Amino acid sequence: MSDHQKQIAGEAAAERVEAGMVVGLGTGSTAAWFVKALAARNLSGLRCVPTSEKTADLARELGLPLVTLEDVSKIDLTVDGADEVGPGLALIKGGGAALLREKLVWEASSRCIVIADAAKVVPILGAFPLPIEVVAFGHKTTGNRIADVLIDHEIQMPARLRQADRGVVRTDGGNVIYDAKCQAIHDPVRLADDLKLITGVVEHGLFLDLADEAIIGTDAGVEIRLP
Ligand code: A5P
Repeated sequence: MSDHQKQIAGEAAAERVEAGMVVGLGTGSTAAWFVKALAARNLSGLRCVPTSEKTADLARELGLPLVTLEDVSKIDLTVDGADEVGPGLALIKGGGAALLREKLVWEASSRCIVIADAAKVVPILGAFPLPIEVVAFGHKTTGNRIADVLIDHEIQMPARLRQADRGVVRTDGGNVIYDAKCQAIHDPVRLADDLKLITGVVEHGLFLDLADEAIIGTDAGVEIRLP
């Protein structure tokens, strides 16, 4: 992980924003570089939709004008980080527990750019545990059903409830997260579909066919990747 690589990716993405745009602001350390670079450009007429309370706090602090998804009919451009960037720009997201709002904002966007450091680019998704957002009510039962789906996908490790120092992690929406150590996801489309069929699963961190472009920070500068 390189902070400099994240920074140059965030700064390059900020250059893609034009005055008057509605911009989706991602969550995480890489997205924070984008938010800072965007604020520094001081563009007129921007309206920004944050994907988490944390990003909203940062954007507010930097003076970026915030609106909600309900306030806008569409988002022109969303820029966000990822935990893994796989072939075809298939992504794992949600390491920062913001996957639900992130996906809602991505899906409302005309264009989505993923920004990441070079270590995030992988030949197959799955080394990073796949976050699955689950309704808190009955979450252990839902966790068992997730385990069954994972076994069907030849993933033997049951997903684990995400904990932090202060106990069970809650998302901005009040849900909990199960992280699935998949190692290798051979059929992301089928896994995504199967997880969504489980009652109690709100969303998963597979972002498929959503990224239009990746800006990857490397030690030699930024690399542009297309799906
Ligand atoms: C937040 O829920 C995530 O989807 C982040 O975008 C992802 O975890 C990347 O975070 P970093 O940029 O901090 O690595």
